Amino acid sequence: MTSPALDRFIVEAAARSRVHSLAADRVLALAPLMLDLIEDAESFLEPQHYRSDPEGYTRNLIRDDPDHGLSLYALVWRPGQWTPVHDHGSWGVVGIVEGVLEERSYLRVSPEGGDQDIDLVRGGLQLLTRGAVTSFVPNPDHIHVTGVPAERARAVSLHLYGRTMKDFNIYDVAARTRRRVQVAHNES
Ligand SMILES: [Fe+2]
Repeated sequence: MTSPALDRFIVEAAARSRVHSLAADRVLALAPLMLDLIEDAESFLEPQHYRSDPEGYTRNLIRDDPDHGLSLYALVWRPGQWTPVHDHGSWGVVGIVEGVLEERSYLRVSPEGGDQDIDLVRGGLQLLTRGAVTSFVPNPDHIHVTGVPAERARAVSLHLYGRTMKDFNIYDVAARTRRRVQVAHNES
């Protein structure tokens, strides 16, 4: 599967990633590219990128480019599907293609570092509509829950990360712990 818009995006994202070594600078440089990519999403999203699962939100790989430290996914959120509380250990840039993606933030109030004795407090939320772009950086850990409440329609979002996103940290808020888990994705 190829598309000029997608190929341009990957080439330009790789070039801008090379120039900027700091995560905060990278997302600054990459967010405008995501804004444009959303507009062209219909030119490269194919039926396999809209796969969904009644058991949970679905991660469909669009492009994995480990040579440039980039991966791009289409995530499909049926009504009522949410992530666990998690962080990525990476920067990320997210754009909304369809529906409203809800992001609920958590703030770590215990000292940074370690997987035990973690105190989280709930923060605010964002309602991200079609065309919106958001980003995060891992300094400190960006901890959040994303998903779609049961009363809203399906959402589809594009996620660009600074590595192949095959594992991330999930938090048990009550137990005050976090652990690294493997996360599955569908290949194209
Ligand atoms: Fe996330």
